Amino acid sequence: MTVSSDAVIELRDATKSYPGGVHALRRVNLTVEEGELLAVVGPSGSGKSTMLNVMGTLDKPTTGTVRVAGYDVSELSDSRLSALRARHIGFVFQHFHLAAGRDAVDNVADGLLYAGVPLKERRTRAREALAKVRLDHRCSHTPNELSGGEKQRVAIARALVGDPRLLLADEPTGALDTASGEIVMELLHELNASGTTICVITHDNEIADSLPRRVRFKDGEIVSDTRSGARSASCTEEVGS
Ligand SMILES: Nc1ncnc2c1ncn2[C@@H]1O[C@H](COP(=O)(O)OP(=O)(O)OP(=O)(O)O)[C@@H](O)[C@H]1O
Ligand SMILES: [Mg+2]
Repeated sequence: MTVSSDAVIELRDATKSYPGGVHALRRVNLTVEEGELLAVVGPSGSGKSTMLNVMGTLDKPTTGTVRVAGYDVSELSDSRLSALRARHIGFVFQHFHLAAGRDAVDNVADGLLYAGVPLKERRTRAREALAKVRLDHRCSHTPNELSGGEKQRVAIARALVGDPRLLLADEPTGALDTASGEIVMELLHELNASGTTICVITHDNEIADSLPRRVRFKDGEIVSDTRSGARSASCTEEVGS
């Protein structure tokens, strides 16, 4: 069942169709290797979120294969799939998805709910994760007592508290002002430098251009996949048009 490559995620000929002839993903092939930091860009409706959800096993492809850490997810039972997701993948969304009325520590501690960690340890680890995103001084604040940028940092701490190999972020700066967005991106760069593989959907070309790999979507297909930077300058390739 396992494969030998270092790939964290592999999509092979993944499609996603909805009734009424909507082809959200047409035939997507994408491999994300350990340690990568990539941007996914493309027009609204081009399939970016659909792909991220399929990569993160929140959604199943209509046809094709998804491998996470070498496991073909279609071969796993629901409980093994949940365990794989809890162990390997953290999610961050544009609108934070924090629980109202629960303080930052408990919001982050919830990231360990499915990992079978006792409450006291969940809270200890949550405080450590909040320190990593430099919010140790906001532990007891509820979401309505936090700025947008702080809320997103709480959401990142929640995604990280289980120490996932892969962080999937859908427009993490989309609801933030420029300065808060920059802080969030700096944080993602730091996390990547310390070993987390990160995939970020963004509408912001400046952000995309600042990342070492850019995957461009159009009409449910990858139209280009470009690498830059010292580490992988020789790997630049254009796919399709
Ligand atoms: N549950 C669904 N049922 C039917 N069609 C859907 C469903 N979810 C998404 N779609 C369609 O699939 C296509 C891709 O949607 P997706 O959300 O992946 O786009 P996106 O690239 O993330 O766009 P945006 O930048 O606006 O977030 C769109 O045409 C959308 O209308
Ligand atoms: Mg989207």
